[in-house]
Amino acid sequence: MTFNTIIEPFRIHSVEDIALTTKEQRQAALKRVKYNLFGLRADEVTIDLLTDSGTGSMSARQWAGMMEGDESYAGSRSFFRFKEAVQHLTGMPEVIPTHQGRAAERILFTETLRQGDTVPNNTHFDTTRANVEYQGAEALDIVIPEGRDPAAVHPFKGNVDTIELERVLDDPARRVPLVMTTITNNSGGGQPVSMANLRAVSEICHAHTVPFFLDACRFAENAWFIKTREDGFGDRTPESIAQEMFSLADGCTFSAKKDGLANIGGFLASKDAELAEKCRNLLILTEGFPTYGGLAGYDLEAIARGLVEVVDENYLRYRIRSTEYLAEMVNASGVPTVQPPGGHAVYIDAGTLLPNIPPGQYPAQALAVELYRLGGVRGVEIGSVMFGGTNDDGTERLAPMELVRLAIPRRTYTQSHIDYVGEVVALAAACAADIRGYRISRQAPWLRHFTAEFEPIGD
Ligand code: F0G
Repeated sequence: MTFNTIIEPFRIHSVEDIALTTKEQRQAALKRVKYNLFGLRADEVTIDLLTDSGTGSMSARQWAGMMEGDESYAGSRSFFRFKEAVQHLTGMPEVIPTHQGRAAERILFTETLRQGDTVPNNTHFDTTRANVEYQGAEALDIVIPEGRDPAAVHPFKGNVDTIELERVLDDPARRVPLVMTTITNNSGGGQPVSMANLRAVSEICHAHTVPFFLDACRFAENAWFIKTREDGFGDRTPESIAQEMFSLADGCTFSAKKDGLANIGGFLASKDAELAEKCRNLLILTEGFPTYGGLAGYDLEAIARGLVEVVDENYLRYRIRSTEYLAEMVNASGVPTVQPPGGHAVYIDAGTLLPNIPPGQYPAQALAVELYRLGGVRGVEIGSVMFGGTNDDGTERLAPMELVRLAIPRRTYTQSHIDYVGEVVALAAACAADIRGYRISRQAPWLRHFTAEFEPIGD
């Protein structure tokens, strides 16, 4: 007998209070932070869907492992447990711990990129793009056309456009030191990449003797989508699917704050010993000795256990279903989302929901602010604030999509929390015609979304 309800495959062992605020308090908080939700104190937020990164709950097994953390500066026991867990999963011999994913990116790109290089990727995440551009290189997004259309339904909308990839690699005017693929494709809606596509990208890269790297933050969620959507994988374990995905790549960057089920950490892994040695030397300069890389021994223990728990079938079934459940509720109230829902988040298509706000007035930012004002729900704008910018001539560069991402922390919120979020979204949709746009009154040259200040238009 099977049941319709896919339950959380855990019970709660330790609880944390959440803030219940009034609309007046939230309105005052919004004014104080100049309408940038990154400026809020976390205890002003009721349901925090800003990110699924580092915000998950660890298991009793992980906490117990932390007590066994070996804090030796060099040669820590915990490092070897961590290294074995990563090697088992990725098959990559060189494992370099870092304090989080972007540290792995910075080290990799510092060693591999030069001014004028190009890095193709399905879609660069914001820190990946910023780290590529910081080296003077071009971060080129070449996801398949369906991946740019929020309404298009495709089982693997994160796939790389392989024709475009070949064109880029054949172009004599370009230097491409490495190709990346982000699994799942976060900035394109948390969409998966198929094994067939990963294999095709790998073959194209190797035919051009260009190394292929995965940005593997959400590899387990990607493996689950392959298991459930791609022919021939239904009987395979998520772990063996993940191992096959990694086997196609020459290296990877990883943020353990996502599918490492840890609150901090990451790594850079590679099959290339020479590259790894250079990266280790740089690691020592800014992160720490290569057996801890900026992490505590107990963090390495938490990640080693997290990498095992995250490929558990019961966990992944619940995880992907809980995201789909929120998307169904949001759609039922007439709010369009990126289709089909991604693995870790629901992406509301604010551009379509708020046609009265032109993209240059940041409709996704306006909706994110409204979800907080109405119900204390914090999501994040993934649109022209995050990916746009100001051109040299002072005009605005706009993003192709105006999305609000509601990212779901792992093993943290229950079904009633998610039901509440669905109600808040429905309320925002009901007053969509009254929501106004914003202008930016202050911004930083890089990653402006973190600190930009806004003014409501028509205030
Ligand atoms: N790559 C992807 C695809 C990511 O989603 C992130 C982080 C990173 C790299 C960088 O990892 O934060 O450990 O330095 N994404 C978070 C998010 C911040 O909210 O999506 P990090």
